[in-house]
Amino acid sequence: MKAFFTLITIICFSMAGFSQEQDLPTDFLNKTFYKDRRDKLRDKLPTNSVAVFFANPVRNRANDVDFVYHQDPNFYYFTGYKEPDAVLLVFKDMQTAVNGTQYNEIIFVQPRDERAEMWTGRRLGAAGVKDKLGFDLSFENKEFKKYSVDFSKFASIMFFDFKNDVRDTYDSSDLYDLIAQFKAKVNYPEKNVTTLAVEPQKNNLDFKGLGKIMNALRGIKTKEEIDMIRKAVKISCAGQVEVMKAIKPGMSEREIDGIHQYVFKKYQAEDMGYPSIVGAGHNGCILHYEENYKPSISNKELILMDLGAEFHGYTADITRTIPVNGKFSPEQKLIYELVLKAQEEGMKVCKAGLPLKNIDKAGREAINKGLKELGIIQNETDKHMYYPHGCCHHIGLDVHDRGFYEDLQEGMVITIEPGIYIPENSPCDKKWWGIGVRIEDDYLVTKDGYELLSASAPRTVKDIEAMMKLPSALDDFVLPDLDKKN
Ligand code: GLY
Ligand code: MN
Ligand code: MN
Repeated sequence: MKAFFTLITIICFSMAGFSQEQDLPTDFLNKTFYKDRRDKLRDKLPTNSVAVFFANPVRNRANDVDFVYHQDPNFYYFTGYKEPDAVLLVFKDMQTAVNGTQYNEIIFVQPRDERAEMWTGRRLGAAGVKDKLGFDLSFENKEFKKYSVDFSKFASIMFFDFKNDVRDTYDSSDLYDLIAQFKAKVNYPEKNVTTLAVEPQKNNLDFKGLGKIMNALRGIKTKEEIDMIRKAVKISCAGQVEVMKAIKPGMSEREIDGIHQYVFKKYQAEDMGYPSIVGAGHNGCILHYEENYKPSISNKELILMDLGAEFHGYTADITRTIPVNGKFSPEQKLIYELVLKAQEEGMKVCKAGLPLKNIDKAGREAINKGLKELGIIQNETDKHMYYPHGCCHHIGLDVHDRGFYEDLQEGMVITIEPGIYIPENSPCDKKWWGIGVRIEDDYLVTKDGYELLSASAPRTVKDIEAMMKLPSALDDFVLPDLDKKN
C-alpha cells in the first residue's frame, strides 16, 4: 500500500513538473546570436562545402555516475544547445531535400522522453530547438541514419577529428552511433587515418581546415560575448575580494577555494572554467596545482589563487597572490613587485596591430633584469626555470580559447599573466625559497590599447594590503567543531 502511494506521489510530481515551464535564467544569449554565428561560419566556408559538428561526449565519473555534462565549445558557439548526442550540419550553399525543402543547416538532437526527463532533466527536443534556438530544420537524432545527404558531391566535408573516449550506450542514437553513421555516410577511411591527415586532398574529408576558421571566428569576440566575459570576470574578481577580506592563517586551501566558489554561485555562475588552483607556500610554485589540500595555511606564506568563474559558457581567468597574514614580507614584496612590473611592461605594448609576442618579450625582459638585480640569477641572459610559462592566451568559451597568436586585433580578449616561482632547493639564496607569485588579468584589446576587465580585484601591494584590512561577513560565520565530544 505504501509503495502504491509513493508511486502515485512520484507520478503527480512528475506531471506537475512537465506541465510547467522550467525556471531558467533569462539572460542567456538569444537565438539571433547563434543564427548570426552560423551565417558567419557559412561566409568563411570554402566553395561547395559542409561543416559537421558533434556534441561533446558524456564522460563517466564512476560506476553509474557521470560528470556534469559540458557542451563542446564549438557546438555551443553555433547552437547554444546544452545537451548531448547531437550533430549539426552547416552547408555553404542552399540544399534541396527529397521533398523539395530548401535548407542550409540541419540539427539532429536527442528526443523528448518523459521518463528520461524525470531522471536527468528537461530536453529541448526537435521542436524546442526550432523554437528556442532558431533552427528551421531539426530532427530527432535517430533520423540521422536515414537522412539522405549526398556527401560525395561536396568539394570538402569539414569536421574535427573524433574524440577517442566516446562510449557506446544502450541508446541506439547516441554520439557513438551518430559518429559511426557519419563515418559510413562519408566513407571515412577507418584504417588509414594517418595518411588522411597528411594527404587530405586525396578525398573530400578535411579535419584540418576548421581549426583556422574557428580561430578567426571565436578569437574576435562579439559585443554579446564581451558582455558575458565581463560578467564572468566581475564575478571572479568579487571572489578574490571576498577572500582578501576573509582569509586568516589556519584556514585550509580547500576552504579558500570554497569561498571563491560560493561567491561564483551566488552570482549564478554555473561552474568553474577550469579546476581552481589555490596553493599556499610551496604549492604556489606548482603551476597547475589542483589538489588544494593543505589543511592549514601558515602565517608567513603567500597564497596563489588562480580561478575563473564560468558564466553561461564564458570563463574568466584571474590570478591573485596575497600574503596569508595581510602583509607582504620584504622578500615577498620584492618578487611581487617585479611580477607586477613585468605585467605593466606587457600592458604597454598591448594594442591592436602590435604582435602579441611583444607582450611576452616585454614582461620576460623585465623579469630577467629584476632577477639579476636581486641576485637570483647571475646574468640577464641566463637560462632559468623561474618563469617557465607563456604570458598570454585568449579566453572565452574555453579558458585557453581559440584565436590567432600573431597580431593583436580589436575584440580579442586575452590574459597577461607573468609569474615567478622559486621552489625549494633552487640555486639562489634560500630566503627566496617557497615564493611563488603569478598575477593574471583579463584584457579586451581595443584600437588604442586595452581595457583591463579585471580591475576590480586589487593588484598592487598597497591595494591588496588595504583590502585585507577590511572586515569580512565570514568573520562571524563559525561552524560547529565536528570532532568535539559533547
Ligand atoms: N588558469 C590556467 C591559466 O592561467 O592558463
Ligand atoms: Mn591563464
Ligand atoms: Mn589562470
